[in-house]
Amino acid sequence: MKFSDQILSWYQHNKRELPWRKGTSYQVFLSEVMLQQTQVKTVIPFFHRFLERFPNLSTLANSSLDEVYQVWQGLGYYHRARNMHKTAQIWSALGRDPRNYAEWIALPGVGPYTASILTAILLEHPAAAIDGNIKRILQRYFGLETIKEVKMVAENVLPSKNYGNYTQGLMDLGAMICTPKTPKCSMCPIAEFCKFKQGTWMPSKKAKNLK
Ligand code: ADE
Repeated sequence: MKFSDQILSWYQHNKRELPWRKGTSYQVFLSEVMLQQTQVKTVIPFFHRFLERFPNLSTLANSSLDEVYQVWQGLGYYHRARNMHKTAQIWSALGRDPRNYAEWIALPGVGPYTASILTAILLEHPAAAIDGNIKRILQRYFGLETIKEVKMVAENVLPSKNYGNYTQGLMDLGAMICTPKTPKCSMCPIAEFCKFKQGTWMPSKKAKNLK
C-alpha cells in the first residue's frame, strides 16, 4: 500500500476525536489558530469557551477587541487574538469562505503552515502542511536530513484525494505513535519500510535541529 493510503487507513480507525473535526469553517479556523503555539489538550477548553462567547464569524466580527482579549486570557500569544478579530472582520465582509491557498494566506495571522492545513481540511485541495509531527515522521520514514528534502518529499507523497484526513492522520500518528522520544514502532502502520525503525537512518545533529 502507498504511504498516503496507509496513513489514511490508519486515521480512519485510530483518529482522535477532537471537537473541531467536522466543525464549521469558522470553528476549524479557530482551532488552527489556537493550535499554532499551543498543544491540543490545552486548546480544547479554550476552544469551547471561545465558541460560547463568539459562536460564529459575525459575532466575532462585531465584538470589540477587548472582549476577544478577555476570552483569550490564559492562552497566551495574544497577537493571535488580535489577528483572529481582524480576520473575522475581513472574512465576514467577504461574505464567503476563502476559496484557495492564496486567499487563506492573505488573512492576518495565517502563514504558510496554517494556510496549507486550512486548504487541505476545508477545501480538500492538495497542500502539504508541515508541522513538527509531520516533519519528524517524514524524516524518520524516508531518512531525510534537510528541511528542503522534507518539503520536497511532503509534496511528492500527497494522496490524490482526502487531503484533510491525510494531514490530520500524520498529525495524530506523530502525537500518538511516532513520538519524539521512544516512538511506539510496534503499533505503527508504516514501520515496515521506515528507515528509522529499520535502523538504517539516525537523525544527525543537523536533522534534529531542523527548523
Ligand atoms: N495540530 C494542529 N492542527 C491540528 C489538527 N487539525 N489536528 C491535530 N493536531 C493539530
